Amino acid sequence: MTLGKTWPRHGKVTLKPFTEPLSEMEWRRFYECFRDPEIAEWNGSRPLRMPLWLFKRVVLGEVSRGDRVGFGILDEVGEWLGTIELYELTPSEATLGILIGAKDRWGQGYGTDAVRAVLEYAFQTLRLNKVKLRTYKHNQRARRAFEKAGFHYVENPPPPGPRFHFGLAPKNEFIPMEITREDWLRAS
Ligand SMILES: CC(C)(COP(=O)(O)OP(=O)(O)OC[C@H]1O[C@@H](n2cnc3c(N)ncnc32)[C@H](O)[C@@H]1OP(=O)(O)O)[C@@H](O)C(=O)NCCC(=O)NCCS
Repeated sequence: MTLGKTWPRHGKVTLKPFTEPLSEMEWRRFYECFRDPEIAEWNGSRPLRMPLWLFKRVVLGEVSRGDRVGFGILDEVGEWLGTIELYELTPSEATLGILIGAKDRWGQGYGTDAVRAVLEYAFQTLRLNKVKLRTYKHNQRARRAFEKAGFHYVENPPPPGPRFHFGLAPKNEFIPMEITREDWLRAS
């Protein structure tokens, strides 16, 4: 596996852009992560049901749209662990999402490293002013990883939206976090 010289990296991880050709194994891991019910639950989503060929088409369509950038999270030997994305991308802000599909790698620092790598990309390469996210109150692992990477809780968050949630968690179980460019520069 050849890792691109310009790909974002931090600590143990390298981020492979979705714009690079993915191997069949990488597509398979990418897809399986989104089909996993436990991961979907932590993420506040439903497990994916579409076939792999359609999943590829959807991802490649989103990549070409330009309002999100995504990366595969690769470990020290280039093995695909999961994905990290900046979506709802504007010239000044983005929302971060991360999923590590390799559950046996949870709690070993890969998530924090991936967040640090994508923040460097967001603030240095994209020159954003703020990166936001929302996570479940009870997702202590994610909250801790985000805090370690420099995120803080949003004070006085806007009131949650309508209580309809179609089987997913009510919005008020999510907590918003963010990091500004100034926060990031101060901590770097
Ligand atoms: C959330 C996620 C990206 C974090 O990545 P990770 O590699 O597991 O996280 P890290 O190892 O970098 O950091 C996790 C931290 O949480 C701590 N932690 C783990 N379980 C915990 C718990 N139940 N309570 C408190 N802290 C906990 C770990 O000890 C570690 O902190 P430390 O380094 O101070 O000891 C990953 O676990 C994942 O993909 N989970 C499933 C999907 C998900 O939750 N995505 C986020 C949606 S917003």
